[in-house]
Amino acid sequence: MTRLAGIFGYPLGHSISPRFQQAAFDHCSLDVSYKAWPVATDRLEAEVRKLRDDGYLGANVTVPHKERIRSYLDDLDPLAEALGAVNTIVKEDGRLVGYNTDAHGLVEALRKDGACDPKGLSVLVLGAGGAARAAVFALVGAGVASLTIANRTLARAELLASEFEAASAAVEAVPMQEPALVGACKKADLIVNTTSMGMRHSPAEGETPLNAKTIRSQSLVYDLVYNPAETPLLAEAKAAGAKTLGGLPMLVYQGAASFELWTGRPAPIDVMFEAARRALA
Ligand code: ATR
Repeated sequence: MTRLAGIFGYPLGHSISPRFQQAAFDHCSLDVSYKAWPVATDRLEAEVRKLRDDGYLGANVTVPHKERIRSYLDDLDPLAEALGAVNTIVKEDGRLVGYNTDAHGLVEALRKDGACDPKGLSVLVLGAGGAARAAVFALVGAGVASLTIANRTLARAELLASEFEAASAAVEAVPMQEPALVGACKKADLIVNTTSMGMRHSPAEGETPLNAKTIRSQSLVYDLVYNPAETPLLAEAKAAGAKTLGGLPMLVYQGAASFELWTGRPAPIDVMFEAARRALA
């Protein structure tokens, strides 16, 4: 019997998870069909309940459901609990358990594809939404020395920073405006964009949060946006002589970690990368 897996989100028109997850199942000769499940909020609880059927292997979760879905699950992994967000649902002895592999994916991509160990670094995170929250958790957990959160809406950055008052790293919030933003760029070893600026099909398509003259050539600029592969921000970073890392590796590593949770097998990373790149070509 073919088992079902899929991703809950809304809308889901541009998700490439079905492409690289299906490639992984096929490569491993696992009889699983991975689908896009575009589900609006009012239908989410009913759709999640279906996962309890034996025909279902598990699921991914994306915007806007990562927080809300917690209340429809039986248990949360401690990291998902701390983050307050779930991107992977695993069935364990008939129970639905929520995990979060986003933070892992972010640091794995940084280490493997960016050749960057965040330990001891001075970091600038752009944005203060759900993706920023996972990034700040991941980076503070990986031992950064200091972290500045810059956001258009300063109050949101301040609220996020306040969660890390007891952390070993110094975490502060600034507005996404000169001169604070320029000052934060000047000391940043690593800049991570978690906003949707530059994302294809978004209202901020073609926009960049920073330009070449504010980026130091010594910085690594990491854009979590994966479509397009070269975002306006990464183009500015290259013009400044900085190193760059796009968002595709994080997307693949978070998905690979989900695959491993569902199957107990090592994920075929190269196959997943190839399928993801083909989906975006
Ligand atoms: P996600 O869960 O993907 O992080 P989100 O919670 O909607 O999504 O957060 C989006 C982030 O991108 C926010 O930091 C948002 O800034 P505000 O908090 O001020 O809304 C930021 N963002 C989106 N579009 C932006 C734009 N055009 N300029 C600046 N920041 C933008």
